[in-house]
Amino acid sequence: MRNLQPGDRPELEKILIGCNAFTSAEVACALELLDNVLTDPDQQDYEVIIAEAQSRVAGYVLFGAVPLTQGNYDLYWIATDPELHGKGFGRQLMEETERRLRARGARMLCLETSSQEFYQRTRHFYVQGGYQEEARIRDFYRPGDDRITYVKRFFDSR
Ligand SMILES: CC(C)(COP(=O)(O)OP(=O)(O)OC[C@H]1O[C@@H](n2cnc3c(N)ncnc32)[C@H](O)[C@@H]1OP(=O)(O)O)[C@@H](O)C(=O)NCCC(=O)NCCS
Repeated sequence: MRNLQPGDRPELEKILIGCNAFTSAEVACALELLDNVLTDPDQQDYEVIIAEAQSRVAGYVLFGAVPLTQGNYDLYWIATDPELHGKGFGRQLMEETERRLRARGARMLCLETSSQEFYQRTRHFYVQGGYQEEARIRDFYRPGDDRITYVKRFFDSR
């Protein structure tokens, strides 16, 4: 696990495209977020963790504090190399993200995904990692495609 470096961009682009999970607009959006981190050393909106295997990028996670909230973070993107899916890199990235957030007293980490059948394994990945479905907006992305919000709470104030 390490921080993002400029040389990682081509490998990350390859991973995002290779996953076959993202439209070209989504890949462009993911790269824009990464470029934000790479080009502006002072930005504090996003944080990236890179998983590495045998000197290759195995995957990444990008998350950030939700503005105007107290200790609430959003996980914006996670993707691992399709050749390495199911080998534990996704789990390691989630665990490292959670470790960093707990260390700074974060209250919760939220993430969103689609209800489409294609994302069934992704949803399983989150549920297995201890994330709970807390909200669902029907037909959010397009008719028949709901937005599901998963949450992990580090402290329960209630
Ligand atoms: C979802 C994702 C980040 C998980 O990373 P990973 O490295 O494959 O995950 P791990 O090896 O740590 O965990 C494996 C678990 O995740 C689930 N999983 C989700 N997608 C999977 C995939 N494409 N291949 C294998 N396992 C997958 C498996 O069910 C597995 O659970 P199991 O052990 O009970 O079978 C990764 O598969 C990925 O990049 N998918 C495409 C992009 C995506 O959907 N990103 C999230 C957008 S909301």
